[in-house]
Amino acid sequence: MLIGVLKESKEFEKRVALTPDIVKLLIKKGFQVLVETGAGLSSAFSDLNFKDSGAKIVEAHEIYEAKILVKVNPFTILEVNQMKSETVCISFLYAYTQADLVNALKSKNISAFSMDAIPRISRAQKMDALSSQANLAGYKAVLLGANALGKIFPLMMTAAGTITPAKFFVIGAGVAGLQAIATAKRLGGVVSATDVRSSSKEQVESLGGKFVFAESSKNLETSGGYAKELDEEDKKKQEELLKNTIKNQDIVICTALIPGKKAPRIVTDEMVKSMKSGSVICDLAVEQGGNSAFSEPGKIVVINGVKIIGHKNFPSRISESASILFAKNVLNFLEIIYDKVEKKLKIDENDEIIKAVYINKEIS
Ligand code: NAI
Repeated sequence: MLIGVLKESKEFEKRVALTPDIVKLLIKKGFQVLVETGAGLSSAFSDLNFKDSGAKIVEAHEIYEAKILVKVNPFTILEVNQMKSETVCISFLYAYTQADLVNALKSKNISAFSMDAIPRISRAQKMDALSSQANLAGYKAVLLGANALGKIFPLMMTAAGTITPAKFFVIGAGVAGLQAIATAKRLGGVVSATDVRSSSKEQVESLGGKFVFAESSKNLETSGGYAKELDEEDKKKQEELLKNTIKNQDIVICTALIPGKKAPRIVTDEMVKSMKSGSVICDLAVEQGGNSAFSEPGKIVVINGVKIIGHKNFPSRISESASILFAKNVLNFLEIIYDKVEKKLKIDENDEIIKAVYINKEIS
């Protein structure tokens, strides 16, 4: 069974879907692996590293010989046009926003598995690529915020005087937010965080953060553990609370998302303008519409001396680790669609994980 690793074509994307270590494991399991030349270069894996792991390095047009194709980002229509019918594709796909792509895959009878749709059940945790990448994004956001800040993080007592620790505020205590809290604490910052899910209080506190919470009479958590959208009354309460919190912070890390919806706007114009000159906002939600006023995808905007960082694709800025975790997620997923005794693909459409990620319906 041939697996092909494509070079990512998206601008500024540095990750690669499989790493040399995972290639070695796949070969042990009986796969053969083709890697498009240069696919791992931006994430520190050279063609030679892949070759030493047993992969064959090929030119772009040769990769389509493989039965299974893997990528981080969704395949492009151009790539689909070059695929053979009945190829199997594994990547982030975001199917519900990619109707043309899904229909192109379907029309060539290509089976696509969407890594962003892995369900949040314990059996699937090791395949959960959204979580593995969000975790690293939270870490990197703190480092980028730290670099943009003209202050150190920890309390420092020197002969020349004392420097007080930097104050961090994390909005959204999900996967990215919790990692941001842990990273900021490790660097010596004073950390607080908010979420609409009261259940996140314990997690924030267990990492040493202070939980800031606007009480609500409603349950703001879905049965799947995600946040619900706030109504006007709760939005007002949150705004009042955060108005007084944000003005004293050195760094605000925004990670709040509502699945399938535009990101909630939480940091208002007024809140940004209330912050001290030199403070930093890092908006990880920028590509979903942004949690902060003034944040713009791919830009650093400065308002009254406050830097609002709106980088796209935070995981790509830590591409070696992000590729390592993504590749492990893919390996773990392959294990449920590959029968290692019969050495062939076995797609059990009744499996809860397969049902969630198998994109085989047309989208209009
Ligand atoms: P997410 O990326 O959808 O959202 C990030 C965070 O923003 C969430 O904590 C959410 O509650 C919060 N948020 C949304 N609107 C907000 C607002 N207006 N103000 C403040 N915060 C707001 O969430 P993520 O990181 O994907 O995690 C969602 C849930 O899934 C969590 O309960 C997490 O523990 C759980 N989870 C479970 C896994 C499993 O396999 N069982 C794996 C990963 C996450």
